Amino acid sequence: MVAMLSQGHKLRQSEFGDGARAGFCLMGACQDCWVWDETGQRLRACTTMVLDGMTLRTAPPGQYWPVTPDLQLHLAATEAGS
Ligand code: FES
Repeated sequence: MVAMLSQGHKLRQSEFGDGARAGFCLMGACQDCWVWDETGQRLRACTTMVLDGMTLRTAPPGQYWPVTPDLQLHLAATEAGS
């Protein structure tokens, strides 16, 4: 989490459409800090140690996450911006 936030101001956009998320509890309880690894596995950023060569996603791969209308918009915007 610290490594990611030192490079930006958020970890991800909320899947519920209520804005940027950057973690809240910092102890693995609130689930506000979800990020995804390159295989699509969901990880809590606050309790995951960064490993050399690790690649993290700040948006979920669509096939691993319930796709809500807000998430569809977010994924489309993310793809358009990359
Ligand atoms: S910040 Fe609450 S679970 Fe990670």
